[in-house]
Amino acid sequence: MDIKEIMEQMTLEEKAEVCSGGDFWHTRAFERLGVPAVMMTDGPSGLRKQGGTGDHLGMQESVPAVCFPSSAAVASSFDTALAGELGAELGEECQAEDVALLLGPGLNIKRSPLCGRDFEYYSEDPVLAGEMGAALVRGVQSRGVGSCIKHFACNNQETGRMVSDSVVDERTLHEVYLAPFETVVKQARPWAVMCAYNKVNGTYCAENRLLLTEILRDDWGFEGMVVTDWGAVKNRALGIRAGLDLEMPGGTDRGTKQILAALEDGGLTEGELDLAVENVLSFVEKAVAGSRTVAPDLERGYRLAVQVAERSAVLLKNEDGALPLAEGAPVAFIGDFARDPRYQGGGSSHVNSAKRSNPLDEAPAGVVFAQGYREADEEPDRALIDEAVAVARAADAAVVFAGLPERYESEGFDRTTLDMPAAQNALIAAVAAAQPRTVVVLLNGAPVTMPWADDVAAILEMYLPGDGAGEAAVSLLYGRANPSGKLAETFPMKLSDNPSYLNFPGEDDRTEYREGVFVGYRYYDAKELPVRYPFGHGLSYTTFAYSDLALDADAFTEGGELTCALTVTNTGACAGEEVVQLYVAPPAGMRRRPVRELKRFAKVALEPGESTRVAFTLDARALSYYEPLLHAFFAESGAYGIEVGASSRDIRLRATVAFTATRSLPRAFSAHSTLADIMATPAGAQVFGPVFDRMVAGAREAAGSDDVEGTRAMLAGIQLSSLVGFGMIGEEQLDGLIAQLNAAQTE
Ligand code: BGC
Repeated sequence: MDIKEIMEQMTLEEKAEVCSGGDFWHTRAFERLGVPAVMMTDGPSGLRKQGGTGDHLGMQESVPAVCFPSSAAVASSFDTALAGELGAELGEECQAEDVALLLGPGLNIKRSPLCGRDFEYYSEDPVLAGEMGAALVRGVQSRGVGSCIKHFACNNQETGRMVSDSVVDERTLHEVYLAPFETVVKQARPWAVMCAYNKVNGTYCAENRLLLTEILRDDWGFEGMVVTDWGAVKNRALGIRAGLDLEMPGGTDRGTKQILAALEDGGLTEGELDLAVENVLSFVEKAVAGSRTVAPDLERGYRLAVQVAERSAVLLKNEDGALPLAEGAPVAFIGDFARDPRYQGGGSSHVNSAKRSNPLDEAPAGVVFAQGYREADEEPDRALIDEAVAVARAADAAVVFAGLPERYESEGFDRTTLDMPAAQNALIAAVAAAQPRTVVVLLNGAPVTMPWADDVAAILEMYLPGDGAGEAAVSLLYGRANPSGKLAETFPMKLSDNPSYLNFPGEDDRTEYREGVFVGYRYYDAKELPVRYPFGHGLSYTTFAYSDLALDADAFTEGGELTCALTVTNTGACAGEEVVQLYVAPPAGMRRRPVRELKRFAKVALEPGESTRVAFTLDARALSYYEPLLHAFFAESGAYGIEVGASSRDIRLRATVAFTATRSLPRAFSAHSTLADIMATPAGAQVFGPVFDRMVAGAREAAGSDDVEGTRAMLAGIQLSSLVGFGMIGEEQLDGLIAQLNAAQTE
């Protein structure tokens, strides 16, 4: 396709038309110009390709496809290579179905465990979400189809998602919520970005020039197409001017009319429209160039789905070797989910599974079943519980399959509680009281409370594991596969511990992100709160030892790099995989920062007794926070802790590195600067230090005090101009001092 040539031939009306879809899932075709229609389909956990009537909530039929584990599970693998394989398989499936763009992955941060779509998102941590997302996108796009990252930005709740305003300060926006998108855009160059329904700081994302053009294109270098979320357009002309290219779904002439009217009345120029037209046509061109004829292989996809589920499951607890179970031993499988597991989430990511497995069908000899609860039940059913208890008591071990029913979590609404149905909690408590070797397998999209956690022997978190739920559960329970997942989010003790608790889901369609950057473990660690299971936690049937952390330098500076290496050894009796996590602990500085933040991770496979060296490279960005005064990421000079461990609360090795910043903050002093502000900067302390020392000495003498620190702290609150009022300096001296302080800052 010669895009320039096509654009020259296009009428104004055709240019307006190309910026809206041709129907629910396709771009518009222009036969006269040789521009075909290409198809987009939901993901990211499988294809939701609809033939007949389209809908954006997963209610109508779609073609049979493989349902892979949801992103909440995939993230728990901490395995970027696996995410890449998954992406490649999704890419192949897209090719087989003639789909050009996969609408996923979702990169939104899990601000609250209540968000109805958390199952579709990766993590509460921006580094993990960004790395997993980048790997998946690279995988999809390696097959010649595009990936569309979504929902840009701050779509962190479902309540009021089409109208609500996410009010986020600049630092938090960049440091937490935009960071995964930045990583994926820069590393994986996705073909498309989907703007979110909601507003960010007062402006709809679909009309948000700061997000869609200044940050996405100008700062990050995005060159693809921006598409609306389905139905997100408010004012089409404002959208195009902000950097929004394609409106979906299409099929009406509403968008075209609005664009033409805006061209007429001067609300939009042809030049502005051309930018959008070119982006849409470039996307179609890539789709045409990448298109191949591929035979579908849903069986291969299913096998991969099983593997991803096995490698994503998180063993939260395993006392006295409760797991793995012995093959052939008498074991009770209990619960509706044992024969009909919850395996995928609701809404637009809903897949029509071609093939599925369930635990009971896969169970080896020796397994007996009791229903225990009905998925539809809220209240405990005594008869079902009594029967389950009897079956559990007669067996060597009991495995209760439990979690969240589909009605509890979905796109379109948020949860209001972290509790599982009382019917399931009561069952687990009763079985645990009768059978010391009680194992709970959880099938849920997001964290739940576990009032019974201390009473059961083992807990295996499988999230929504996709079509392979049954095979994966059984192979993990019986040790044919060794669990190696780690939590990509904190499981709090209770809902009210969550940092967003008082400001979720907001009021009057306005949600203030008042916890700032203290999302997830960043908050729990700063508050020293006990949690049920911390970020990064996950056990294995083997054990790992960490040793010999070495840094290749004890200091580095902006523009430089630091390599950290350590040894991990499999000290147990079976092969296994460990997720090695590197956290940076920033020094106390000008801004309040989290205690530690994940910056790098690696998954290593080790045979019993085997050791390997794991190396990570850090740059200044890994030490940085987003500094609003600079409108950029920045790390202050100081001593940074390098912490390596098996979870955010299981740090095994520590070292320190000195970092020197080459930039300084553009702080302008004025008559209203406090002495504390001045003394906090190196330049201020140098210029004003001697004066301040004299003030402190004078004040102590007058008061007959020998408390130096207390006197300093007391005086530090004074503003500069007050020194004139107190007769300590004259007006002119004040002006001179301010000039001197500001000059010293820029030296
Ligand atoms: C969802 C998107 C999805 C689109 C198309 C919207 O409701 O928010 O994630 O891609 O529908 O189904």
